Amino acid sequence: MSRVNIKSTIKMQIEGIKKVIIEKLEKAGFTIESLAISTSDEIISKVEIKEKEAIDIIQKAQNALGVQPLTALKFLELESKRGKITTTSNELDGILGGGIWTQELTEIAGGFGSGKTQLCFQLCINVQLPKEEGGLDGNAFFIDTERTFSPRRIVEMASYRELDVESILNNIYIGSALNTSHLFSIVEQLNDTIPEKNIKLLVVDSFASHFRSEYIGKGRLVERQQRIMQIAEQLIALAVKYDIAVVVTNQIIANVEEFLFGSPEEPALGFAWAHRPQQRLFLRKSRGSSRIARLFDSSRMPEREALFYVTESGITDAPFPTEFYS
Ligand code: GTP
Ligand code: MG
Repeated sequence: MSRVNIKSTIKMQIEGIKKVIIEKLEKAGFTIESLAISTSDEIISKVEIKEKEAIDIIQKAQNALGVQPLTALKFLELESKRGKITTTSNELDGILGGGIWTQELTEIAGGFGSGKTQLCFQLCINVQLPKEEGGLDGNAFFIDTERTFSPRRIVEMASYRELDVESILNNIYIGSALNTSHLFSIVEQLNDTIPEKNIKLLVVDSFASHFRSEYIGKGRLVERQQRIMQIAEQLIALAVKYDIAVVVTNQIIANVEEFLFGSPEEPALGFAWAHRPQQRLFLRKSRGSSRIARLFDSSRMPEREALFYVTESGITDAPFPTEFYS
């Protein structure tokens, strides 16, 4: 078998990448195969280039190699590289396999006041933490469809953890989506914004609301489902392409066929949507500030429940001290 000259393989196959960058990549020890399975962070940490360029290189290396089957071992290696954002609750992180993962669409469903928005706020703060503290050293983009984003609450939560409040606020980008077509155009622009602003977490709160209010009645159900699937695919593509975590919130509806979900309530948006998120978290109120989260329909983790609290300091494993006496 003839030996492949890695240098010439890179030069020949990564069309459209500047010679000087190829030389830098070679010097850092990259091969076309390792580039194809690297994350942009890994490339940036070894070679001085912009995130957008790193993403382009990964894509071009993947294209050059063509569609090649991965072994389960390689798959495991790739999976272990994926980032996780802590929820600040060890119990909740536990059922999620370490927190909210990148390259996945995570759904947080639950009723009014169940803690969906509070959990999203907490994640917008936590994503900014260094990796060793459960963050991704990155920024957040929060798509607000219900005008519930509260900078005051972010200040409160960040202050309790003695974080630099101004910097935390400065690294959360807000997009207000007034209707579904507005939501689509914001998501389209994210291909530029994500690498430019070092976004590592994208939140859509609430994902369900505009779809449910705009597409009313059985006559529009097919159209509604098509639009939901379209945007779900776009969100998943962003999660994978940019190695970011995508979190969307969903409302709940009465479940007429209780045996299907084992509960009198189930997440809205129907059967087709139900298969899109890789992780589905169902929150429900418990006593006082406590909440129960159930992970279900996960391809990676068993169905389990976790108890956590929504306190003044944010999401925690234990109630706020004053609540012990209330
Ligand atoms: P909907 O958006 O209405 O569907 O509800 P949600 O699931 O997003 O609820 P959200 O996360 O907004 O609120 C959950 C609970 O968090 C509320 O019922 C309050 O108990 C608590 N909460 C909200 N804001 C604050 C706050 O500023 N301080 C404290 N301590 N608790 C809050
Ligand atoms: Mg909310």
